[in-house]
Amino acid sequence: MAHICSYQHVWTFDNFLRPILHNPEKIFGPHVRPGMRVMDVGCGAGFAALELARRVGDTGQVVAVDVQPEMLARVEKRARKLGLRGRIQTRLCQRESVQVEGVFDLVNAFYMVHEVPDTKRFLGQIRDCLAPGGVFLVIEPMFHVSKKRFQAMLTAAGQIGFEIVSHPRIRFSQAAVLALSSANLADT
Ligand SMILES: C[S@@+](CC[C@H](N)C(=O)[O-])C[C@H]1O[C@@H](n2cnc3c(N)ncnc32)[C@H](O)[C@@H]1O
Repeated sequence: MAHICSYQHVWTFDNFLRPILHNPEKIFGPHVRPGMRVMDVGCGAGFAALELARRVGDTGQVVAVDVQPEMLARVEKRARKLGLRGRIQTRLCQRESVQVEGVFDLVNAFYMVHEVPDTKRFLGQIRDCLAPGGVFLVIEPMFHVSKKRFQAMLTAAGQIGFEIVSHPRIRFSQAAVLALSSANLADT
């Protein structure tokens, strides 16, 4: 089974350098508006969840989901410090199941899909919780996930009803914005 990045190593990728490498405005700005309901799946210590919470405003909501309770505790602590706690709900999930109710305008999966045990099943769960017109932003680490593997993930996404909207350029990463294909939307 794929390795999970332990909460003990979170400082290696969620530290003061992260917003310099991964400019939050450039990455999330085009996809988030005030009032949106957003899921950050595999949220880790909250780099994305906190940035998303800033952008959805008081009328929006971010659901931060992870399999490690220690990660969720960090998100809660950081959100409290930043005055964003009211905009973030945390949810502990199982590796095989995201287990979040409701629908989302945006789902963000930043450096986590390669840790999921069954990619196609995971993608199906994300598809089922996207609101009509919603998008799925998936970002994978370039040095860890080969182009071929990333492409295979996109192919699997296409097979279950996603289409590729764009390929944002993100440092040291491979990324795609996915949405439900029009045929799939007609079914909903
Ligand atoms: C490399 S970290 C990235 C964290 C965060 N997204 C970031 O960019 O800083 C991957 C995270 O995904 C979580 N994760 C792994 N498998 C998962 C699964 N099946 N469902 C939810 N979270 C998962 C891990 O616990 C870890 O916090």
